[in-house]
Amino acid sequence: MTIHIGAAPGDIAETVLMPGDPYRAKWAAETFLQDARLVNEVRGMLGFTGTWNGHPVTIQGSGMGMPSLSIYANELIRDYGARTLIRIGSCGGMQEHVALRDVVLAMTATTVNSPSSGIFRDLNFAPCADWGLLRAAADAAGRRTVPTHVGNIYSSDVFYDERPDLNEQMVRHGILGVEMEAAELYTLAVRHNCRALAVLTVSDHLLTGAALPSDQRERSFGDMVEIALEAAFT
Ligand code: HPA
Repeated sequence: MTIHIGAAPGDIAETVLMPGDPYRAKWAAETFLQDARLVNEVRGMLGFTGTWNGHPVTIQGSGMGMPSLSIYANELIRDYGARTLIRIGSCGGMQEHVALRDVVLAMTATTVNSPSSGIFRDLNFAPCADWGLLRAAADAAGRRTVPTHVGNIYSSDVFYDERPDLNEQMVRHGILGVEMEAAELYTLAVRHNCRALAVLTVSDHLLTGAALPSDQRERSFGDMVEIALEAAFT
């Protein structure tokens, strides 16, 4: 057990999918894993372990934002031996060609500030996905009909961001979408010699204001979970 995860040693698989929302962890475990069982419910941040095609998999909520993700990812890696961590979550689209329900594979994750920023001081570290996972996920996405984009995303701890023209600069510089966790996950993974990737579904759009109604979210999110699982075991 750790401070934030109540799982017994050995209850966490080496491969962990991390949605922000603990209820999405429950839904994904019940929908895609065999023999899924609850392994963590500390603070309601649900985690489940089961198997996918015979491979052990844990699906553990990360909470919202990089400070929360950092707590769970650190404990999963350092105390439970997780080696492959794939964020599955939503993002806000930031380009005209990125539509609601599309999948975004985050090759890199730009950030203004993350829990790791302090250690880099003047260095603009570029958090980047594991190439093998990214390539496998792009291949898995290519076998499906869902439109998929691969590129740079923006990870922000501030959902209601009032910094003037920050979004405009992101759009100008080709950022595909905004979310709140990937940059720190990538940084922690490389620090601890692990593999990480973020597979995202576009749930809303910053240019148009469009958003997926909640009853349509689950269906769109299925592609993302399957792409993540196929990538993990390629
Ligand atoms: N901002 C930040 N995170 C998000 C968004 C957004 O608009 N949509 C989904 N995750």
